[in-house]
Amino acid sequence: MNVLLTGGTGYIGCHTAVALTQANHQVVLYDNLCNSHLDVVDRLQTITQQRLPFVQGDVRDTPLLIKTLQEHHITAVIHFAGLKAVGESVEMPIAYYDNNVSGSISLLLAMQATGIKTLVFSSSATVYGDPRYLPLDESHPTSVTNPYGRSKLHIEDMLADVAQSDAQWRIARLRYFNPVGAHDSGLIGEDPNGIPNNLMPYIARVAAGKLPYLNVFGNDYPTPDGTGVRDYIHVTDLASGHLAALQALSLSTQPLHTFNLGTGQGYSVLEMVKAFEAASGKKVPYHIAPRRAGDIASCYAQAAKAATELKWKASRTLDDMCVSTWKFQSAR
Ligand code: NAD
Ligand code: WQD
Repeated sequence: MNVLLTGGTGYIGCHTAVALTQANHQVVLYDNLCNSHLDVVDRLQTITQQRLPFVQGDVRDTPLLIKTLQEHHITAVIHFAGLKAVGESVEMPIAYYDNNVSGSISLLLAMQATGIKTLVFSSSATVYGDPRYLPLDESHPTSVTNPYGRSKLHIEDMLADVAQSDAQWRIARLRYFNPVGAHDSGLIGEDPNGIPNNLMPYIARVAAGKLPYLNVFGNDYPTPDGTGVRDYIHVTDLASGHLAALQALSLSTQPLHTFNLGTGQGYSVLEMVKAFEAASGKKVPYHIAPRRAGDIASCYAQAAKAATELKWKASRTLDDMCVSTWKFQSAR
């Protein structure tokens, strides 16, 4: 297939580009570089031995999208492009709705104009809100507490309407849990600007001596050690989940699909610290800090639907996640 990856130079997009290229799909990267760097294209060339076409553009630029879809004879799109920081979305809701919701509408218009009807969308476990039960299966009710989550839910709802309107669409809404880790080569990974919001990149910078200690946000949650529990998934496993989703869509007779992409296994903040210390051989000092506003105690996936219908399962361990993060961090 000829597959357009919007947000293709971003963290999850570039790992997916590797998985698709290695499975002999033709990948085109489309990104405005607002949260990634052009050197990712060189790094992808080193990993895949192929120069992947890159278009610098915004997903809100419908004419440029249409031109790109036509020029590269695209047959399917994976839509990663968007803004993803929860705290920032509270400060800048308009920017989030513009990038995420308007960007998705622009993409749908471009796909409609070119007759392309296969779409994989990056959604998030954040659409489940505060879990009513665990593990979270795909029929758990949705709810949101911040503009980022609401933008994802709006897009999910729009995609359901689109699928309902025309049975030829093949749409997969993938709800990622907590993606972490890096490619085995250490060449690509997650390198956020400024102080990281997320746990794994923060721990990696503490281990590297770039930050003095980790703030553990709360140790009085109803979890085994009192710290927050999440379903961390290796980004390479997540990438292969997109390949599986594309394959499943090509065989499916149904227009709309929704899948959790997680491992089904939760780890606490302190378990993450311990695992990272073991993988890196470095100390990760931490202080117990107050709970972070908006955090939930535990969140992990029921991963059975993807296993059955996509024939996909995460296989990498917590140690793999920490070792690859450390390799990437050490090379920065
Ligand atoms: P990322 O920021 O590394 O990648 C997103 C890419 O999209 C970046 O390269 C950015 O430059 C680009 N982009 C943003 N707005 C754009 C626009 N208007 N036009 C063109 N390009 C644009 O983030 P990521 O972690 O790779 O996330 C990819 C997708 O997965 C996002 O939609 C995100 O919301 C979703 N997601 C991420 C996580 C996570 O924890 N990383 C979890 C669940 C869902
Ligand atoms: C994990 C755990 C924190 C940082 C976020 C988004 C979600 C999704 C993934 C996109 C929690 C604790 C963290 C720190 C800490 N993104 N923590 N000290 O909050 O599960 O999910 O990223 O869709 O929408 O909300 O991930 O990595 O921020 O936190 O103690 O410095 O680590 O309290 O228990 P989260 P996270």
